[in-house]
Amino acid sequence: MINTMNFLKGQGDLKNWLMEETEFDARNLGKYEAVFAQGNGYIGMRNALEERYVEEVRNTFITGTFNKAGDEEVTELPNLPDVTAMDIYVDGYRLNLQSGKVMEYSRIMNLKNGETTRKVVWECPSKTLVTAVFKRFVSLKNEHAAAECLELSCDGSAQLVIETGIHGDVTNHGAMHFENLRRRIYDGITMQFLAETTESRVLAAVHSACRISREEKPLPVMGRRNMDLRWSVKTEAGETIRLEKISCFHSSRDLAYEKEEHSGMSERLKADGMECLQIEFDKGYDRLLAESAEVWQKFWKEHEVTIRGNDDFDQLALRFAQYHLNIMVKKDDNRVGIAAKALTGEGYKGHSFWDTEMFILPYFTLTEPQTARTLLEYRYRNLYGARKKAAENGWEGAMYPWECAWIDDGEVTPLYLGTDVVTGKVQKCLTGLIEHHISADVAYAVWQYYQASGDQDYMDRYGYEIILDTALFWSSRLEWNEKKSCYEILDVIGPDEYKEHVDNNAYTNYMADYNMGLAERIIEALPKENKEVSDRLDEKFHFDQLKQRLKEKRAKLYLPVPGENGIVPQTDQYMSLESIDLAPYKASGKVLLIHQDYNMEQMGGLMVSKQADTVMLDFVMPDLFSLETKRKNFVFYEDKTLHDSSLSRCIHAVLANDYGMEDMAYQMHQAACSIDLGPNMKSSEEGIHSASIGGIWLSCVMGFGGLRIRRGGLEINPKLPKAWEELRFPLVWKGQKLMVTVDKKGVTIANNGSCPVSLMVFGRNSRVEPGASVYMEKKTYEAVIFDLDGVICHTDHYHYLAWKEVADELGIYFDEVINNRLRGVSRKESFDIILERYDKVMREEDKERYLTKKNEGYKKLLEGMTLSDLSEETKDTLMELRKRGMKLAIGSSSKNAGLILKQLGLDHFFDAVSDGNAITHSKPHPEVFQKAAAMLNCKAENCLVVEDAEAGLMAAKSGGMDCGAVGDAVKSLLADYKLSAFSQLLEIIG
Ligand code: BGC
Repeated sequence: MINTMNFLKGQGDLKNWLMEETEFDARNLGKYEAVFAQGNGYIGMRNALEERYVEEVRNTFITGTFNKAGDEEVTELPNLPDVTAMDIYVDGYRLNLQSGKVMEYSRIMNLKNGETTRKVVWECPSKTLVTAVFKRFVSLKNEHAAAECLELSCDGSAQLVIETGIHGDVTNHGAMHFENLRRRIYDGITMQFLAETTESRVLAAVHSACRISREEKPLPVMGRRNMDLRWSVKTEAGETIRLEKISCFHSSRDLAYEKEEHSGMSERLKADGMECLQIEFDKGYDRLLAESAEVWQKFWKEHEVTIRGNDDFDQLALRFAQYHLNIMVKKDDNRVGIAAKALTGEGYKGHSFWDTEMFILPYFTLTEPQTARTLLEYRYRNLYGARKKAAENGWEGAMYPWECAWIDDGEVTPLYLGTDVVTGKVQKCLTGLIEHHISADVAYAVWQYYQASGDQDYMDRYGYEIILDTALFWSSRLEWNEKKSCYEILDVIGPDEYKEHVDNNAYTNYMADYNMGLAERIIEALPKENKEVSDRLDEKFHFDQLKQRLKEKRAKLYLPVPGENGIVPQTDQYMSLESIDLAPYKASGKVLLIHQDYNMEQMGGLMVSKQADTVMLDFVMPDLFSLETKRKNFVFYEDKTLHDSSLSRCIHAVLANDYGMEDMAYQMHQAACSIDLGPNMKSSEEGIHSASIGGIWLSCVMGFGGLRIRRGGLEINPKLPKAWEELRFPLVWKGQKLMVTVDKKGVTIANNGSCPVSLMVFGRNSRVEPGASVYMEKKTYEAVIFDLDGVICHTDHYHYLAWKEVADELGIYFDEVINNRLRGVSRKESFDIILERYDKVMREEDKERYLTKKNEGYKKLLEGMTLSDLSEETKDTLMELRKRGMKLAIGSSSKNAGLILKQLGLDHFFDAVSDGNAITHSKPHPEVFQKAAAMLNCKAENCLVVEDAEAGLMAAKSGGMDCGAVGDAVKSLLADYKLSAFSQLLEIIG
């Protein structure tokens, strides 16, 4: 099947705004119906062609109108009566591009204003040449309205019949959702269609009116479930017949009727629908389009992300993504979520998954926080179903349904899906039963939103409760393993859905722990921050009890760590699964091909993954493992991943970029864009991939743009692909509007808000005043000079033990709290502090004796020090810095530096060691660092010092060097970089 998608149609102002279908091929109908779908978050309309084809799936949806078509079905978003179809007959021949001859064909989606235009030149079997131009859009101004326009002309005289109406003979793949159809045609041109869903009793009203550029009146025609207006007209060469059709959709689920009684609703819907139609119909197609286009224009002005690069596809794909992101959500209605296929197809039945929180919400959280809040309010309103699900399964708290529909439906995942190729039965679908991570995903998203927006009101009303209730669920969900003496999470499905009934899925366990950790923090802080909210939640969750329980369970929760091979096991089972050759599947370019060879049970035994799982964990929690481990895991799991879920590639793109695999990142990004836009003409038939579309923004902005919400703050650490010169994206951070422009060298951040914004750019703290902008370049360093104690290793405890021995001998009380006061203090002064509790006066020579004794004791203890005293993270980071060609030195005032390095096995690791034995001034004098720089033959400005003490930071600064702070020193105003993890150095060094 050939790829008929052309992205180069747009020129001038429309460059990279137009997507064109260049040729008619009925096998591609589904593709274009979905990717060219139109809507506004309330209505979603597939772009089915006006003339009808067997292959078509003609869908119109109104968000939230869920119905269950039968006892064995789950609730789904019903397909509404259709207004888009038009039958056109020329001299008795039905316009159908599978007959006659197609002389010209082009359908264009204009992403700028949401309109599609199709031009067809068709030679009818009678040889008349027919030119038809069809235009269509769904209004962004009035969410109830949609409009169509037909311009029809022939090259000679012809007898035409044009028929269009409202068709209720629609189903969802055969499932009938509507009954009690009521139809009426008023004043010859206005059609009214009322229908009621079979189970949920939702009323849907569709009103349409038509105007034609001819005098003739249409004939009203009623079929069994349809009604039409039929015009029969004679046309001459040169005449263009124009038909406009305006339609309005309403339902009893509309927000406006939320508090209304059901009785009387049909009259209300009829009246409102009629009034709405009258107003919009009077305006006509062009004015309606202009109004809607104006709203689109405003949207693009505020939200557009732009790319300057050498592949236009990247910009177009991003616009495609933003177009769909803008129409997939009803931004003011917290009773509805975002469906996995948005409102563009029947796939996944209009249900919401973790797709929203983990793949789509970041976009809204960081660009349209109000919409993010609505979506998270939806999750609050889902709590009813979540509690129901937990209780039904014998657990406490709130366990979110894997698939959600209407707010109080609870779990709506179907129990069967697809074919079991081995047994020939329908394949069981276990996700609704055992894919549990979504509860933690929701809590994670709530916290991310809170960090980015600072929306305290949301937290007080909803957010805290979601986190506490889900944490309560996890605390009851854990299972005690007596043998291993730890808590576990058994029998789940992790993000990788090719593995059912797995134990201790790393993603699930870590996310559960995170969720419980958030709850612990809330219980700790809330009583001090807001007594009223705290009391209310305390009453519900019994803070003391819950805190105790969370603490106890978290301390013993099994969290998988890297094995000897450096790999974090995805599950208890994964590492011992059978490897098979995945090359044929990977090379096929097709998704889900493996299902033709194995059923789910068999797939569970194979080392093959559907999508990012442990890799996903490294995306959401980047600080769990060292860079080396994360990179190793990425390579290991990617090799086994078929990317059979559209949620996979975008995450791989972000992480490949983080891990320095830039070419792969760009490849993955373009492949993610191609899920809906690529040459596979079958990939989107069931609807576009909402999560993957959120993922396009993710891989551009969070991947190449390097944007993260991390450690509670905003970080930007970009790395553009070779093909891009510039990336520009708007952001909203804590209510302040920012514009970020990334080029090959640096980043400009403009603060268009009214308050200053603090953030980290390239690892460096910066602050942008309102109305101002800052430009920052990534600094390059030649060398890193480390303080030793407190940075590379921690000898605190050895000092403590040595002092303790002295104190015990003298009968002085000494503990860790007193020891804390000795940090950064000279040996002599330390002893004076200890002697504060000594009730005698000590002679100077005795003091000297004890000081020597302490030092001897300390040195002796150091002899027990080995490489294992160094954290894995420190080791990995040092190795990685070396790999990247950095010169490394020690700058320590300790006279024991040489001994410590020897003990650690690092005596030959550093290029230079400048220590207390060679200096005459100690820190804050810069001598020790200057000596190190001289030994390395580096200029001061090319050196980065890493320190844990204020005096050290002062020494670096006065020596003209940049400095990164670790430990308590991060509080210092002198620090250029605040390293909350040692491995962050790698981000600074790049
Ligand atoms: C994926 C899930 C996803 C769902 C809906 C599945 O194929 O494995 O992770 O939530 O599709 O998009």
